Amino acid sequence: MKRLFLIILMLSLFTTIFQDPGFTAEVTNMRLLPPDTEGGKPLMQALSERKSSREFRPDELPPQVLSNLLWAANGVNRPDGRRTSPSAKNTQEIEIYVAKKEALYLYDAKEHALTVVIPEDIRSRIGRQVFVQDAPVGLIFVANTGKFRGGSEEDALFYSATDTGYVSQNVYLFCASEGLSTVVLGTIDRDQLAKTMKLQPRQRIILTQPVGYPKNRS
Ligand SMILES: Cc1cc2nc3c(=O)[nH]c(=O)nc-3n(C[C@H](O)[C@H](O)[C@H](O)COP(=O)(O)O)c2cc1C
Repeated sequence: MKRLFLIILMLSLFTTIFQDPGFTAEVTNMRLLPPDTEGGKPLMQALSERKSSREFRPDELPPQVLSNLLWAANGVNRPDGRRTSPSAKNTQEIEIYVAKKEALYLYDAKEHALTVVIPEDIRSRIGRQVFVQDAPVGLIFVANTGKFRGGSEEDALFYSATDTGYVSQNVYLFCASEGLSTVVLGTIDRDQLAKTMKLQPRQRIILTQPVGYPKNRS
């Protein structure tokens, strides 16, 4: 009888905790699935279908799609650690932050993993347009200009902007291949977003790019 009472008590405690809207499951670092580097549409078809779209369904990206997206964007594609996107003098200064519902993560290309930065949903801050909060994934391209040795901050920003362009185009082409919706964004409140992300002074937000399934997907 006593045991039954204890079981009922534990069950009711368990359901109360999980129904409490204040309860948040702990978010942890995650290793991504190995990227599938064989699939996708032929390049000329992906180029034909590349476009900016501003409508997103809130559906999460499946784990394999998220893995492939980040690898396509700026993953390691050679044994010497070089990437799918070129960078001036192979500086590899572009960091990809990944805003998801449960947390803001940093993409670790070497480990092909996501590291938790803050356990908060900051998707609504990646741009000034309302659709940004609908996309399940918001990519934030941040240049660590401190990685450039010599040269001015202006030079570093020039190369950071060009290098971000390659990453963004990789995302566009992956999205075209995968039937995903995306648009690169320059209209950002960078000061507010940098504060939210707790960035260092030489970490400069260049562009952002929401990604998700289109609203009209059947
Ligand atoms: C550097 C850059 C910044 C952009 N910023 C925004 C933006 O803040 N908001 C937006 O809706 N589109 C933005 N775009 C997307 C352009 O509006 C879009 O690429 C252009 O209209 C051409 O359309 P397409 O990409 O479908 O060819 C930006 C594009 C680039 C290259």
